[in-house]
Formats: sequence, structure tokens, C-alpha cells
Amino acid sequence: VSRIYADHAATTPVRDEVTAAMLPYFGTFGFNPSSQHAEGRAARAALDEARATVAGLLGARPREIVFTGGGSEADTLAIVGGARAARGRGRHVVTAATEHHAVLHATDVLRDEGFEVTVLGVDSQGLVDPAAFEAALRPDTVLASIMLANNELGTLTPIADLARVARERGVVFHCDAVQAPGRVPLDVDALGVDLLSLSAHKFYGPKGVGVLYVRSGTPLVALVVGGGQEAGLRAGTENVAGIVGLARALELAVAEMPAEVARLEGMRDRFEAGVDRAIADVCVNGRRAPRLPNVSSLAFRGVEAATFLVRLDLDGVAVSAGSACAAGSVEPSHVIAALGAPRWVELGTIRFSFGKLTSEHDVERLVSMLPEAVSGVRVDTAELGTEQCGPLADRVEGRS
Ligand SMILES: Cc1ncc(COP(=O)(O)O)c(C=O)c1O
Repeated sequence: VSRIYADHAATTPVRDEVTAAMLPYFGTFGFNPSSQHAEGRAARAALDEARATVAGLLGARPREIVFTGGGSEADTLAIVGGARAARGRGRHVVTAATEHHAVLHATDVLRDEGFEVTVLGVDSQGLVDPAAFEAALRPDTVLASIMLANNELGTLTPIADLARVARERGVVFHCDAVQAPGRVPLDVDALGVDLLSLSAHKFYGPKGVGVLYVRSGTPLVALVVGGGQEAGLRAGTENVAGIVGLARALELAVAEMPAEVARLEGMRDRFEAGVDRAIADVCVNGRRAPRLPNVSSLAFRGVEAATFLVRLDLDGVAVSAGSACAAGSVEPSHVIAALGAPRWVELGTIRFSFGKLTSEHDVERLVSMLPEAVSGVRVDTAELGTEQCGPLADRVEGRS
């Protein structure tokens, strides 16, 4: 029996069309785009074309696209590079507790450099309160960073509302949109962002290549210095094959989005409804918020996620826990912890994320095998208290 891969939020496989587009640039087209000769100029042309493609798909201009070594690097460049560039105007930045570690650890770097960082809490559904966001902005705030789609919960934040407020106050707004391509429409003007991060391996492109969109006029200084590539914002001989692959992957993701979103939503909803029918005491985190079509964050009462993950892996299912297991002790994820949910939700959350590797049949198989897998790892739930699935982590509601 084939395995079920339900971890597309962690990464996706490179699709064949993307591999095909990249291959020449590993071989006889793999020259240095900075070289003056014909070979170098051909590589430069491929780079220029990829930049124009990405810009067009995001509603940006080619010179606003900076290629990076992935999502973490784009986030770090935006936050550390953006705040450093603006330090003359103030030393305060705003972010949220549910951001990816790439964002949170970038703000740690700033803290070490004398910046003050406001980390906003979120509501029970994982969303930042727009009024709290506005209240956090101060005269000395130089930058705010709030993600579009949360990678653990799949919840979607109304970025346009927050970005508008930030820009009215002269605060540079960065958005980590790494989980969004192919699942949520992305237009930098509609979102109103100054800086936006993407990573190719989340949309069937290669790992180790990403984008930072930089709105014209946004102050930014480089973190990687050297030869002045990427308009001086990211030195180093360009990853031409990776960049060509990223552009092709984004093109396909955008073109296929309407059909793929409908397919994923259908699958996700059937999965959640099936689980709800078959298993007691399971909650969907972030159920009341707008969500990505492909992510289902489920909390199983009385289940330790790390143990469950191993059991599922043995049963042929690849998923992620909502917690990181470090040196034998289970640390609840900072994202689930920020929801203020009961302890069992923190301990027992598993993320299922669907995509091109999952079929309707896989979802049926999952729903039919999960009850036994859950009872195999469930401990006595009486010990865990009597909190019901409340507004913190809603029961699955059948879709009407
Ligand atoms: C929301 C979010 N931001 C940033 C990253 C980091 O991207 P990368 O793995 O390309 O560094 C990820 C993925 O791991 C992510 O899900």
C-alpha cells in the first residue's frame, strides 16, 4: 500500500514541468549571469525573464523582485535589513506571536541591536486584532511584520487592513506569504505591502530559492554582501536554475489556482467531516477564521502529538506535529500555545496538509484508518480535565 503524504505545508515535491525548465541551467546554460560573454548574457536573459514573470504574477515591477536563498532568508532580509535601514527614524518593530521562527528570530537579532519589539498576541483563532495592531504602532515604529497564512494553522490574516494602517503611519509593512502561492490570490498592491516573502519549495519549486518583493522606495540594506547582485540587496552568483524553476512553479501555481483551491477545499472539508463522524474529542484549530484550502490542524484530546506522529508514520502517513520534540521532551508549538487553548490542544495537535500528492482516495483511507490509530495512542482522557472543545478550538461543523 502506498504511503499518504499529508505534509505539503512542510514542503512540496518539485513538479516535472519545473524540473524540465531548470535542467538546461544545470548544464550547458549554467553560466554566470554577470559574465560579459555570450554564455553569460544567455544566463542573464533567463534571469531577467524569470524576474519579469514573477513580477507580473505579483503585480509588481521587475526591479522590485529580489531573489534570495529561500523564505527564511527573505524574512530575515526584510526584517533585519528593513529595520537597520530605518534605524535613524526609530527603533521599534511590531510582529505577532504566531509568526514563523524566521520572523521571530529576526526580531531577536534586532533586539540585540537595541530595538524594542512588540509581539502581539492573537485571538483563539490565531488572528491578530486590527485594533491592537493599530494601538501598537508608535511614532518610533519603523517596521511591522505579519504573516498572510499561518503555516501551522492555515489561518488567513486580513493583511490589507493591517498594511493600510501601517502605511498611513509611515511604518514599513512586511508580510511572510510563504504558504500562500497557489492557494490565495497574491497581488502586492491589493495587499498594500512594502515587503513580501515567498519560498519556491512550498509551491512545487526547488528548495533554497525564494523571493523578497521590495516596493520601490522601501529602505533596505543587504545582509549578504559581495558582488552587488540583485541590485546590491543580495550578493552572490545567482542560483539561475533555481530562479528559473521558481518562476515556472509560480506561473503554474497561479494558473491552476482556481481549480486546485476547489479540489483542496473539497478534500479538506470531507476529511474534517469524516474525522468528526469517526472520532470523539477532536477539534479543528482556527476553524472560525478564514483558512488556507489545504491545511487542517486537528487537536486530539488525550493524544501526545509526538507519539501519534510516530504511529502514523509506521502506518504510512506523513504529517507534522503542532509541536517540536527536543531532547526527549515535547515542547508545545509557540503557535498553538499562543491560542490560549487547553493544555491537551497544545499537546495533541497534528497538522494535515493536502496537495498534489494527495488524492480523494487518500482522504478516504485516512478517515478510515485514523480511529484505530488514535485509540492506539490515546491515554485516559479523564485525567486531562473536563474542558470541552469551546470557542478556543471549535468542533468541526458540517458544511451546509
Ligand atoms: C510561514 C513560513 N515562513 C518561512 C518559512 C521558511 O522558508 P524556507 O524553508 O524556504 O527557508 C516557512 C517554511 O518553512 C514557512 O512556512
